[in-house]
Amino acid sequence: MSQRIAVLPGDGIGTEVTREAVALLELVAARRSLDLDLWHLDLGADRFLRDGTTLPTAVFEEIRDTCDAILLGALGDPRVPSNDHARDILFGFRFGLDLYANVRPVRCLDDRLSPLKHHGAADIDLVVFRENTEGVYVNVGGQVRRGTPDEIAINEDINTRKGVERILRAAFEHAKLHGKKRVHMADKSNAMKHAHELWLRAFREVAREYPDIEPVHVYVDALCLYMVQDPSNIEVVVTNNLFGDIVTDLGAALQGGLGMAGSANLHPGRRCAMFEPVHGSAPPLAGKDLANPFAASLTVGMMLSHLGHPELETLIEHCVRDCVVALECTKDVGGALGTRAAAAALRARVAVRLG
Ligand code: NAD
Ligand code: IPM
Ligand code: MN
Repeated sequence: MSQRIAVLPGDGIGTEVTREAVALLELVAARRSLDLDLWHLDLGADRFLRDGTTLPTAVFEEIRDTCDAILLGALGDPRVPSNDHARDILFGFRFGLDLYANVRPVRCLDDRLSPLKHHGAADIDLVVFRENTEGVYVNVGGQVRRGTPDEIAINEDINTRKGVERILRAAFEHAKLHGKKRVHMADKSNAMKHAHELWLRAFREVAREYPDIEPVHVYVDALCLYMVQDPSNIEVVVTNNLFGDIVTDLGAALQGGLGMAGSANLHPGRRCAMFEPVHGSAPPLAGKDLANPFAASLTVGMMLSHLGHPELETLIEHCVRDCVVALECTKDVGGALGTRAAAAALRARVAVRLG
């Protein structure tokens, strides 16, 4: 039976790296006889500007009911300052499919990519479990007396016991499955007494179910410090939606930049998941063949793992590492190649390894 993948190329460099991600996927599928059915969707800023469409309900439902994965390019376009289409599509999938675990590996593939003076690739290997359906992203709030000196703007921070507990459990399950020794939970329970007291209490309770894993509670500001000072003891991080967004850009810097960071949006146990690089549409790079395609390539690896082929994720990661070591890469990671050439170099290595 074929596996169906919805492809939304996104905006800006999203379209450029997704094009290369699809080429990589097609190569792997052909060489390994994977029966993949790619469904290319014309959704994004261009479409929105053309006819106002963001994510039609019927399309969302068809994806939900028939697809195994969504491959998404970054959304965001200067011609849409409201960012309405991007929110509708990105959150439409994250919330609509209840993809509560945003899994963002922070793995530095080569010493040369580490920005830290005293720590190299061997010290930077962690994964962030970012809660993906709650927090301030829920968009509960409003504005009162807008435009007056007395205006008030509110974005509520939503934390449910169920939502907190399931992301904590996902992080511990991952640690258990991969033989990790500890899980760091990052919050601000010293300041955000109500919501983060819930996180801390639930963390301690869930941790008891995993006696072989050390639970480490850190305040998120200190976590940022530790990630830069010495990330070598950090293996699995679990945190809320907003903090997870921020620490994974910091994490990307430890990998060589946003051009090297892939991510998965999952509901563990469910079929349809979404895969997107951590980076955005980078408008200043768009259309110049400058974007690093490797974050999207590593993201394809994560998708293949979800589709039942974890060995192909490892293979792609090895080939990305080989490209970086050989300087067959874009400028942001020290090479001299454009997006297309770097992606072609990666495909050539993947083809050799696949035989
Ligand atoms: P960004 O990730 O686009 O860029 C941040 C920095 O990283 C820039 O210096 C950029 O040049 C660099 N960068 C990013 N990806 C790169 C790549 N593949 N290769 C080389 N360099 C790369 O973030 P931003 O500038 O804050 O946001 C731009 C737009 O993207 C905004 O509209 C934002 O909302 C959107 N965005 C979308 C997503 C998504 O849809 N998943 C994620 C993040 C940002
Ligand atoms: C990300 C992005 C999004 C987020 C934006 C585009 C809303 O920064 O996926 O990291 O904050 O989740
Ligand atoms: Mn982000």
